[in-house]
Amino acid sequence: MRYNDPSHFTRWQTSGEFPAIHDAIFTMLRKHLDAGTAGPPPSGFLDLCCSVGLLGQRIREKVPGARVCGVEGLASSVQQARAAGVAYPILNLTVTPATIPTLASWIRLHRVEVLVARRCLSEVFATDPSWGPAFWSAVTAAGVRMAVIQGRQPVANPTHPIPSVREEIAALGPGARLVDLAGQCAVLVPL
Ligand SMILES: C[S@@+](CC[C@H](N)C(=O)[O-])C[C@H]1O[C@@H](n2cnc3c(N)ncnc32)[C@H](O)[C@@H]1O
Repeated sequence: MRYNDPSHFTRWQTSGEFPAIHDAIFTMLRKHLDAGTAGPPPSGFLDLCCSVGLLGQRIREKVPGARVCGVEGLASSVQQARAAGVAYPILNLTVTPATIPTLASWIRLHRVEVLVARRCLSEVFATDPSWGPAFWSAVTAAGVRMAVIQGRQPVANPTHPIPSVREEIAALGPGARLVDLAGQCAVLVPL
């Protein structure tokens, strides 16, 4: 089922159930919160490319003390999230080299310590993976201490420039240290 299928909202609103498509990255996040990978227990979370907001909402509801914010490039998705009752601030911003200062300000404003990015960096870096190190340097300088990412599901003959999490990790450059990799989910910390 697609990430923005309206039935995800219906299930969350009627039974409090979150989309199963987010289980793998949420499990990875939980594991590293429990392990203390981000250092002192973090409370600020950013769901980057949050779309209609249900992964961030899950973090807000299920991680005690979590403060969540989001960033999403598509205005209609942000509106859908708000209309459905997703209860954290979402910035409508397309992340590009030119908007990195705005993203960094948002991270500082919300005291973000953990970046969560599911099926996101493959899109953000799709046209030019070479600015990945500048992205990583900006978000970590702004306060991010740990990133939990999930890449695209690999296919046999990929045509996408960033077809899996391995290419996302490589795009972030040598300043991002890989701590864990399971399936398409990875955890990185600043060197
Ligand atoms: C495959 S969807 C994943 C959505 C969400 N992370 C999830 O897993 O449910 C990718 C999302 O990234 C957003 N997006 C793509 N490029 C972006 C960019 N450069 N800046 C902000 N959002 C972007 C799209 O609008 C879309 O909502």
